[in-house]
Amino acid sequence: MTTNTVELGDYCHYMLKEIYEQPGAARNTLEGRLSGNHLVAKTFDFEAEEVFKFITNVQVIACGSSYHAGLIARNWMEELGGVAASVEVASEFRNRSHVVPENCLIITISQSGETADTLAALKYAREIGYQHSLCICNVAESSLTRESDIVLLTHAGPEISVASTKAFTTQLIALLLVVIALGRHNALAAEEEERIVRQLRSLPAKISEALQLDARITEIAEKFSNKRHTLFVGRGIHYPVAMEGALKLKEISYIHAEAFPAGELKHGPLAMVDSEMPVIAVAPNDELLKKLKSTMQQVRTRGGELIVFADPHAGFEGADGLTVIKAAPIDDIIAPIIFTIPLQLLAYRIALIKGTDVDNPRNLVKSVTVE
Ligand code: M6R
Repeated sequence: MTTNTVELGDYCHYMLKEIYEQPGAARNTLEGRLSGNHLVAKTFDFEAEEVFKFITNVQVIACGSSYHAGLIARNWMEELGGVAASVEVASEFRNRSHVVPENCLIITISQSGETADTLAALKYAREIGYQHSLCICNVAESSLTRESDIVLLTHAGPEISVASTKAFTTQLIALLLVVIALGRHNALAAEEEERIVRQLRSLPAKISEALQLDARITEIAEKFSNKRHTLFVGRGIHYPVAMEGALKLKEISYIHAEAFPAGELKHGPLAMVDSEMPVIAVAPNDELLKKLKSTMQQVRTRGGELIVFADPHAGFEGADGLTVIKAAPIDDIIAPIIFTIPLQLLAYRIALIKGTDVDNPRNLVKSVTVE
C-alpha cells in the first residue's frame, strides 16, 4: 500500500496517527493468537513446533528500532523463556566470524522485510551454519518472509512515517509470543504463561491510558525547543527503551540524543551534564529503582534538568529541575511497551515545535534497501 491509499484523517502527520493507532495495532497482533490465558498453538505452523522443541539459543539480527525490539526481547527470552539469547545489529553481524551454537534459532525483526542489511545478515547466517530462521515482519509479501523458515506477522497495518512507532510496539508483542512458544519447551511454567497472556490482553487499554499523557508531554516539550543535546537513561530492560526514545528524538527533531545505561553515566557521560543538557529517565517500579534514583541524584547535583517517566508507585515527586510524568500503574512484563509510548509522543511534540518534516526526516528513507 502506498502513502496515497492510507488516509491521514484528522491527524497532521502519519507519525501521530500511527502512535494513536497502537491500541488497535496491539489488538490486531494478538488477534486469533490467544485462547483464554494461553498462546494458541497454531500461531506458528506445525513445522515451527517441531523446531521450537529443541531450540535452546536464539540469535536476533535487526536494524534501528527493530534492533531495539530485539534487545528488549533478550531479557524476556532469558528470564521468562529460559533460552539463551544474543542480539546483534544486522550490519555488523556479517563483519565477524561466529561460533554457531547448537540448537539455535535465528530471529530477524523488520517492519518492511526489505532492509538490505537484515537480509544480507540472514543469508550470511545460513552460510555459516545456522539452520533455522524465524522472522517477525509487518509486510506479508516481502523478501524477508520469503527467505525465512517461520514467519510471524505483526499485523500493525501500513506504517508510512519514517519513524517506527506501531511497528516497534507490535514487534515487542510478537516477540513475547515467541518467548511463550519457546519457553513452553524450556523453563516457562503454565502459570507464567498465564501471567504473560493476561498482561498481553491488557495492552490495548494500557496503551490508551499512556496516550492520555500527550497533553502533559506537549507542555514539557517546550523545554527542549532550544536544546541541542539530550541524554536518555534506563536500567535493565529499560535501557533499550531509552535507546529507542533517543533514536526517535534524533531522527525527527535532529536534536542530538544519546542513550546510556544509567549506571554508565558516572563512567564518562556525566561530564557533559549541565543546565543545557536535559536528561530523560525511564523509571519503572522495579528492583533497579534504587540504583536509578542514585544516578538521577548525580544528574541533579550537576545542575542537569531531569525529566522522569515514572511508574506512580516509584515514589517520585516533581521539584525544581525535576519534572515527573507519572503513567498509570504498569505491569512488569509489558512495562517496556508502555514506557515507549510517552517517549514517542515526546519526540513528536518536540519535532513539531522545531518545525521539521516529521514524516520524512532529512537524509532518511522508510525502507533501507541498500547496504
Ligand atoms: O524495516 P526495518 O524494521 O527493517 O527497518 C529498520 C530500521 O531502518 C528502522 O527501524 C529505522 O531505525 C526507523 N526509522 C526508526 O524509527
